[in-house]
Amino acid sequence: MLQELYQPNKEFAKNARIKNMCEYNELVDAANEDYEGFWGAFANEKIDWFEPFTNVLNETNAPFVKWFEGGKLNVAHQCIDRHIESRKNKAAIIFEGDRGDKQIITYLELYYQVNKFANLLKEDFGVKKGDRVVIYMPMIPEAAYAMLACARIGAIHSIVFGGFSAEALRDRINDAEAKVVITADGAYRKTKPYMLKPVVDEALAEGNSPVEKVLVVERNNEDLEWVAGRDYSYNELIKDKSPECPAEPMDSEDPLFLLYTSGSTGKPKGVQHNQAGYILWAQMTMEWVFDVKENDTYWCTADIGWITGHTYIVYGPLAMGATTVMFEGVITYPDAGRPWKMVEEYKINQFYTAPTAIRVLHKTGENEPAKYDISSLKVLGTVGEPIDPPAWKWYYEEVGQSKCAIVDTYWQTETGGHIVSPLPGATPIKPACATLPLPGIIGEILDPETGRKVGAGESGYMCVTRPWPSMIRGVWGDPERFIKSYFGDVKKDGKAVYFTGDGAVYGENGYITITGRTDDVINVSGHRMGTAEVEAAIKKHWNVAEVAVVGKPHEIKGEGIFAYIVLKSDEGVADEVEEVKAINNIIKKEIGNIAVCDDMVFAPGLPKTRSGKIMRRILRSIAKGEPITQDISTLEDPSVVEKIENMVKGV
Ligand code: WTA
Repeated sequence: MLQELYQPNKEFAKNARIKNMCEYNELVDAANEDYEGFWGAFANEKIDWFEPFTNVLNETNAPFVKWFEGGKLNVAHQCIDRHIESRKNKAAIIFEGDRGDKQIITYLELYYQVNKFANLLKEDFGVKKGDRVVIYMPMIPEAAYAMLACARIGAIHSIVFGGFSAEALRDRINDAEAKVVITADGAYRKTKPYMLKPVVDEALAEGNSPVEKVLVVERNNEDLEWVAGRDYSYNELIKDKSPECPAEPMDSEDPLFLLYTSGSTGKPKGVQHNQAGYILWAQMTMEWVFDVKENDTYWCTADIGWITGHTYIVYGPLAMGATTVMFEGVITYPDAGRPWKMVEEYKINQFYTAPTAIRVLHKTGENEPAKYDISSLKVLGTVGEPIDPPAWKWYYEEVGQSKCAIVDTYWQTETGGHIVSPLPGATPIKPACATLPLPGIIGEILDPETGRKVGAGESGYMCVTRPWPSMIRGVWGDPERFIKSYFGDVKKDGKAVYFTGDGAVYGENGYITITGRTDDVINVSGHRMGTAEVEAAIKKHWNVAEVAVVGKPHEIKGEGIFAYIVLKSDEGVADEVEEVKAINNIIKKEIGNIAVCDDMVFAPGLPKTRSGKIMRRILRSIAKGEPITQDISTLEDPSVVEKIENMVKGV
């Protein structure tokens, strides 16, 4: 295995924040020896406190933990105000629009924009500390202003990805009991305008909505319907706002944002992150994992609707005073050279994207990187799903010119920031391997039965056995679900520990390879989809009696969605193609395009145990075309397995 390791670039390592494995090990040891001392020292060093904290970690009520109690801070101050003295004219955000339009926002400009936005929310909409604000926005600078404006006044934002449907948006608005929605008329995709505001209208149409006001950023200036007394133009209201707005002093453990994510059961849950711990780790991981330097330009291609966009486009880069690129467009448009053209033009130093994007860029533009001067690149990152070795190699050799470290960052919405990742100046890397837990994160692969740490070559459940500052603080409105979802499966020394939902395996050298979800969550193009959500949508079709969905490997998406559907009646189903279309239309309406099924099989029945439990493992094997290893003799109707297998072979 050792020969597969790629050593860090020596020149790069010389100036890296963490320069070698000795330095890495020193940090790991420091955290092990004095966990609270380790975190307390970094919190003091990194955060510009309004009032110092008096206690590092309070575990009395675990798993509901408190970090840095007594401390007061403001995340917008941490991300903007504290940089004004030394970086006021530095680019905070470089925006590239879909049509190639550009904007450079300095830290001073960001300060004014965010203050004005904060004043608008306070004065015109009456938004107060603790109020929830839903943000349903395209990738434009105003989306970042909106987040930071909420943080400035202590409002809790909840961003809903712009690809979600009206139904999905409504569910999230209602669950969060949001008072305000911030949106845009729409934006541009492949140079064509598309709309968002009509989706908001639809989400609010049913009445009984907690939403009082809607703020509309006019981006593409397409025609809109305005609801009098509810909808307001940002472009109008912002004009007369004062560019000064005091930053609200927040307690360390006041909520900062909610972000809804899929679990294996039920509706998406509102993952809650709080102020101090989240921003501390966002900043530290930016510094350690991407090793961004003062004059660097960093680009993360995620969407702000996902956690990667929160932590690694907005909060992390700005907290450390970096220059972050924000891109509205599609990375393969007008061709698969777009990102490399941008790297050349902005002299980008760190580039962070998802394996699904790497696969597409590889497949459709294998030779594109060589057409541009991309020599500025120093660190390449990947996130969201396991990356396959061929994509990794292309990324390393063609994009990284065999000199850039690839940081395969493993983490989740719930972890707030990276938890297992190489450090670019220190960690020898291995294709498709997230390597080692970051210092301060006690990440271990445990045997779910015994809670014992597994040995080299063994697989188990990826857990974090001590609380860490940026961990999820709760599921909004549902403390029981928080405990059940994350602290129910694995116990170490009799104590419930945080379980990620992922399986993992140790290599000889303690390296961790993430093998994927152990639960019913499907990872489609790096987006988490709960099987329960997709099934609930499909069941809304009048003719669907039963449904089970599973993941199936997909060349570009990583995983695609495979649905087994039992119809109520074959009558009226003249055309299966039409039926598939109708069901996918329901999915688009209920969730969004990202949840559309790649395969649908109309099955005569589903493999169930005698107690009625659907055997998804069998369905997964059939979808993958693997032989069935499970004992099917105890099924209610074993013959159904063969029938489905034959149907799938015909798909
Ligand atoms: C998966 C995204 C392998 C994993 C930041 C996790 C990964 C889920 C990696 C979280 C990686 C994320 N290697 N798998 N480097 N990074 N995952 O909440 O299954 O959208 O549980 O957060 O993505 O997805 P989420």
